This record gives sequence, C-alpha cells and structure tokens, in this order.
Amino acid sequence: MIYEMDQLPPTKRYNLLASLVTPRPIAWITTIDEEGRINAAPFSFFNVFGSNPPIVAFAPGNKDRETPKDTARNIRRTGEFVVHMVDEPLAQMMVDTSASLPHGESELDKLPLTTVPSENLSVPRIVEAPVALECSEHTTLEIGSNRLIIGVVHVVHARDGLFDDDIHLYHGAYQPIGRMSSPDWYTRTTDQFEIPRPD
Ligand SMILES: Cc1cc2nc3c(=O)[nH]c(=O)nc-3n(C[C@H](O)[C@H](O)[C@H](O)COP(=O)(O)O)c2cc1C
Repeated sequence: MIYEMDQLPPTKRYNLLASLVTPRPIAWITTIDEEGRINAAPFSFFNVFGSNPPIVAFAPGNKDRETPKDTARNIRRTGEFVVHMVDEPLAQMMVDTSASLPHGESELDKLPLTTVPSENLSVPRIVEAPVALECSEHTTLEIGSNRLIIGVVHVVHARDGLFDDDIHLYHGAYQPIGRMSSPDWYTRTTDQFEIPRPD
C-alpha cells in the first residue's frame, strides 16, 4: 500500500505514523501551573537527541489550532519540566493521567503516587518512576499544530540498582514499557537481545 499523506486527513496520518513508528519511549511529564499545581501527562512523540549538551525533545499537539496542551502551556511559563520513564507497574496510572481534565485540575490528585521536590527545578518529580530527568526548556518550535519542545537535561534520578559504579546498566534491571499502535497498545521490554558492533 502507498499512502499519500497530502490526501489523508490528519487523524488518518496520525493512525499511520503512530502505529508504524514503534516502539516509542514514553515520557511521563510533570509541570506546574501558575498556582503551583502539578500537572502530569504522557507523551510518546519523545526521545533523546544528544548528550553534549544532553537534550531530549517531545511533541505535544495543540488542543485546537491555537490552544496548547497544559504541559506546553506550563513549560512556556516556567521553562521547566521533569520527564519520567514508565515501567509496567506504573503503566495504568500513566494512562490515567492522559485524561483531559479542565485546566487547573491535577491528574495526580486521585492516584497513589508520591511527588517530592526536584534538585534543580521548582517542578516536583514522581518518586515511584524508575527514572526522572530534570529539564529546562531550550527551544520550542511551532510547526502547524505541533509543538516540538527541546529540553536540556540537568539532573538524572535513576532508581537504586540500575547502574554499577561506572554507570553501566545492569542488564534486565530496567524494563520501561513502549508505545505501540494507536490508540491503546503497549509493549514490554523483557525480551531483549544483544548484537555486538563491528570494530
Ligand atoms: C501513552 C500515551 C502517549 C501520548 N503521547 C502524546 C504525544 O506524544 N503528544 C500529544 O500531544 N499527546 C499525547 N498523548 C495524549 C496526552 O497525554 C493527553 O492529551 C493529555 O491530556 C495532555 O495533558 P495536558 O493537557 O495536561 O498536557 C499521549 C497519551 C498516551 C496515553
């Protein structure tokens, strides 16, 4: 099959790309609004893009042509966010935080999660997540109704037992879930294999 993107409505383009470009890592992102309320939401249009400086990027689509999602709105105001990685015990709660609540209502209020202050940011992090990346906004690109938010990572929190003293990951100790086809499919990372690179 050949699909000409120009001839498809945006929802079908989304179904094609979001179902095919998989598995994707999931950034579970906390931000704070002007009242200091914590907002949490997942974004799978997300990845790491460099280490010098260490940068990540994710893409919240606008709610409508003009209105940003709360995560983007909060980052525009504070310039700060925390990216959490999600493992299977957190998967349902991560999905629960994708509900569209009225602005000002926190997705975290009804969930048995603990938030604590970050080292460098005013945005708190979720303790139960295996990984939290404290980020400041570097640049936000607006392309149509997409926003591409690029952040610099300042502090990495990794659950005890993930790395040895030389920052080598213990194989099998970290099993984040990935996003698969739209709308509701996910994958485990419990079945990994190794291919050494040529010299
Ligand atoms: C696993 C998962 C991944 C998602 N990825 C994205 C994404 O990359 N971009 C996006 O705009 N929305 C994405 N969403 C939907 C947002 O999480 C949802 O719109 C949420 O309400 C946004 O919250 P906010 O308005 O508090 O920022 C995703 C939802 C789920 C469950």
